[in-house]
Amino acid sequence: MTQPRSAGESFVSTTPAAGDAFDSLAADYDQAFTQSITGRAQREAVHRRLEARLAVGDRVLELGCGTGEDAVYLARRGMTVLATDPSAKMLEAARRKATDAGVGEALALRRMAAEGLAALPDDHAFDAAFSNFGALNCAADLAPVARELARLVRPGGVVILCLLGRWTAWEWLWFLLHGQPRSAVRRLRPGGLPWRGAQVRYPPLRQVRRAFRPAWRLVRSAGVGTFVPPSYAEPWARRHPRLVATLARLERRTETLSPVVRLGDHVLLEFERS
Ligand SMILES: C[S@@+](CC[C@H](N)C(=O)[O-])C[C@H]1O[C@@H](n2cnc3c(N)ncnc32)[C@H](O)[C@@H]1O
Repeated sequence: MTQPRSAGESFVSTTPAAGDAFDSLAADYDQAFTQSITGRAQREAVHRRLEARLAVGDRVLELGCGTGEDAVYLARRGMTVLATDPSAKMLEAARRKATDAGVGEALALRRMAAEGLAALPDDHAFDAAFSNFGALNCAADLAPVARELARLVRPGGVVILCLLGRWTAWEWLWFLLHGQPRSAVRRLRPGGLPWRGAQVRYPPLRQVRRAFRPAWRLVRSAGVGTFVPPSYAEPWARRHPRLVATLARLERRTETLSPVVRLGDHVLLEFERS
């Protein structure tokens, strides 16, 4: 596996704004999202697929690891993880979490945006690459990222991507009920949305597939957060925990059906290397 240098030693990015933008979120991220009812339910759906696709001993590259929740999860299950993120503060939080979990040996952290993958020298160094909860919605162009992943992941390996969706049933309902119709359709704005100096994009599924061709074949897609509410509905979710649990079960049963895939807060895509 590529021997990672310590976080902060080098930083490769063509979108420096993204790392800075997320720095300001790092301190509260776990409390506001990771530990929330909605965040936990959405992450569990992703973890089910990680369990299904990855095995003990796999070498995993994570893009946009944030506070390291998934990286620690994978390291605890016997995988070797290189977790990357452009935000120095997110990586600090991830390092603390890895130390607390005692998985320092299996988990390396490196400050890097997805656009900087060319700096990783070893071809086929990984069995899988993974990115959760919209990290790659901050990348301006997915095609060069997909090409670098094709170099870094061995033939037969997988890429698992959880991206922010474009058509989100909950979002329309929520913002229309709150009298904010412009917010209801905000993800459809051409070019995406500016956010704290970064730009968040919501590419249509066909565009993502095209970016990953020809090296990657889409083998599964699922909706995440189609019935389970998004994080801004957390106060509502806290008042209705049993209903959220029921919605999570419904989502689990239907996650790969076409409308459920397309109407989620996130979409979870699994690609195999040709
Ligand atoms: C919503 S957070 C998700 C964090 C983590 N994956 C999780 O599941 O909690 C998005 C993360 O993407 C990172 N990010 C932003 N732009 C990025 C880019 N161009 N490449 C890789 N990661 C990026 C941010 O620093 C942030 O940590």
